[in-house]
Amino acid sequence: MELSANAKINLTLDILRKREDGYHDLQMVMQAVTLADTLTVVPARGVEGQALSDLHFLPTGGKNLAQVAAAAFRQATGLGGEVDVSIQKHVPVCAGLAGGSADAAAVLSAMNRLTGAGLSPTELAKIGEQVGSDVPFCVLGGTALAESRGEVLTPLAPLPPCHIVICKPPFSISTPQLFGRVKVKKIVRRPDTAGVIAALEAGDLTGVARRMYNVFEDVLEPRRLSEINSIKAALIDCGALGASMSGSGPSVFGLFDQKNRAQEALERLTKGYRGVFLCGPAGPR
Ligand code: C5P
Repeated sequence: MELSANAKINLTLDILRKREDGYHDLQMVMQAVTLADTLTVVPARGVEGQALSDLHFLPTGGKNLAQVAAAAFRQATGLGGEVDVSIQKHVPVCAGLAGGSADAAAVLSAMNRLTGAGLSPTELAKIGEQVGSDVPFCVLGGTALAESRGEVLTPLAPLPPCHIVICKPPFSISTPQLFGRVKVKKIVRRPDTAGVIAALEAGDLTGVARRMYNVFEDVLEPRRLSEINSIKAALIDCGALGASMSGSGPSVFGLFDQKNRAQEALERLTKGYRGVFLCGPAGPR
């Protein structure tokens, strides 16, 4: 069975408070995008399932999120055997684009079909919660408000048709370390989440783009922040209606209403970066 595993961007990311369990309560407007990995899921040839990809440094056994998801599905439903998962990675890893979570969500969906379990997307998303905070959104896709740890999802009006340029700078940011640097009471700038939701309802792309923000940008090291800001400036200079960092970074994206301007941004950024993509919004899975 072949499936695609769509990445996501954060139109907004706000951190509301630190919880007793070490996680943070978040408020994020999430958007699935057409940039995607391709997965093939088949019954395992050996005793234990493998997860093979074109990236040699990813784990191939039970630690790969694709296999964690398969195990979570078997545990929750009592259905299905070991599976081999082949992944063609197109989504950069450790990039704030939920690449690993998207693969996990695709495996949950594949197992649901292969076993004939017939679980609803909401039931599958519930299984995904234990695999990772972004997995439930990746199961549902489309446009949604994600709250609590990220697993409480409310579908939103879709992002109007647009062109999205994503640029991943060549460094990684550790998500737990970045959360560790956040002092919730000291956050001064926050995204206009309600304004973004209202603009989505009105089908107002410019209104969405102008209100986007990610509070993690406030706690980046200065040299990282300056690189993020220079990518944002290049996107805006090429005609993006707005630009922001996605998730815990370091990927930066810009929203464009005109394809030729997005194409120009793609060409300009490709001169300085290897991980630059032109894609669009994706609907619910
Ligand atoms: O759930 P996931 O494994 O994706 O989260 C990775 C890490 O990010 C967690 O261990 C935690 O340190 C941090 N995190 C958080 N609050 C969230 C989601 C993640 O503090 N809502």
